[in-house]
Amino acid sequence: MLVAPIVEVKNLTKRFGNTVVLRGINLTVERGTVLGVLGPNGAGKTTAINCLTTLLTPDGGEATIAGYNVVEQPEAVRSLIGLTGQFAAVDEVLTARENLILFSRLLRLSGGAAKRRATELLTQFDLLEAADRQVKTFSGGMRRRLDLAASIVVSPLVLFLDEPTTGLDPRSRQQLWAVVKDLKAQGITIILTTQYLEEADALADQIVVIDQGQVIAKGTVDELKDKVGGKFCELRLANLEDYEKVKDLLSDMGEVIVGEMGKEGPIAIAAPDGANTLTEVVLRLESANIPLADISLRRPSLDDVFFSLTGHTT
Ligand SMILES: Nc1ncnc2c1ncn2[C@@H]1O[C@H](COP(=O)(O)OP(=O)(O)O)[C@@H](O)[C@H]1O
Ligand SMILES: [Mg+2]
Repeated sequence: MLVAPIVEVKNLTKRFGNTVVLRGINLTVERGTVLGVLGPNGAGKTTAINCLTTLLTPDGGEATIAGYNVVEQPEAVRSLIGLTGQFAAVDEVLTARENLILFSRLLRLSGGAAKRRATELLTQFDLLEAADRQVKTFSGGMRRRLDLAASIVVSPLVLFLDEPTTGLDPRSRQQLWAVVKDLKAQGITIILTTQYLEEADALADQIVVIDQGQVIAKGTVDELKDKVGGKFCELRLANLEDYEKVKDLLSDMGEVIVGEMGKEGPIAIAAPDGANTLTEVVLRLESANIPLADISLRRPSLDDVFFSLTGHTT
């Protein structure tokens, strides 16, 4: 049996003045799955999400949620979706419980039902202990969890999460990932934007990579990593002044990839032969008397995926 995708986006375009921000985005999401929209800062992720959630009107193309057109049937779309934006929507002065009751009341739950729903959500999101504290005393992770709770007061058909973990510490990030997995298990379809391949890796069934307003790749995490190819050998130099020498020394082994931290960060090269590539690098640096601070093998990162797709890093 063929079931139409729950989200369908065809050739979506958006510009602000002379700046073209979306250049014809195409994507589909199957019901009950998580789509990761991966891209660097400024790629157009938030603009795309805002078009799909009716906060912005696209200039061209078409987008439907459960068959409802986001431009022509915005009310219907809004009734089916939840949105957690990049910037928290909760009120700082209110407590967590007051915020959730407020959101519930706005969604027309009765007083009693609103209280019960608030307690349910506080429990589910591990916020019960902090429930009666003002939100301004919350950590970043707690705030994001509350924001997420507020967006599922009435269980949405499709939940949009715009960079839900950007700026969070690793532990808070893990907690949020657990919550997202839980929501998926409840059958909620999720579209999540992120700058981190690792996050998409942990949560997404399918990924679209966008750069400069265009989809430049689609697939599962493994398919994307396979496009980049096998493993990478990553090294850090003990002395930054050896940097140029090392680039020369390794140049015949493949492209030497420098990340966004430049000389301060690690250098990587593709390691198709895994440990053999690593050994070769160690031997070459040793015979040139260049000390290493660190060396390891790793799977491709988002940076590598980007570099291989676009020729530039994130
Ligand atoms: N309201 C706006 N007016 C003008 N330019 C905008 C506006 N919103 C976003 N942009 C520009 O659109 C591009 C994409 O932004 P955005 O969708 O926020 O990217 P992302 O969420 O991937 O970081 C950026 O270059 C940004 O400066
Ligand atoms: Mg954004």
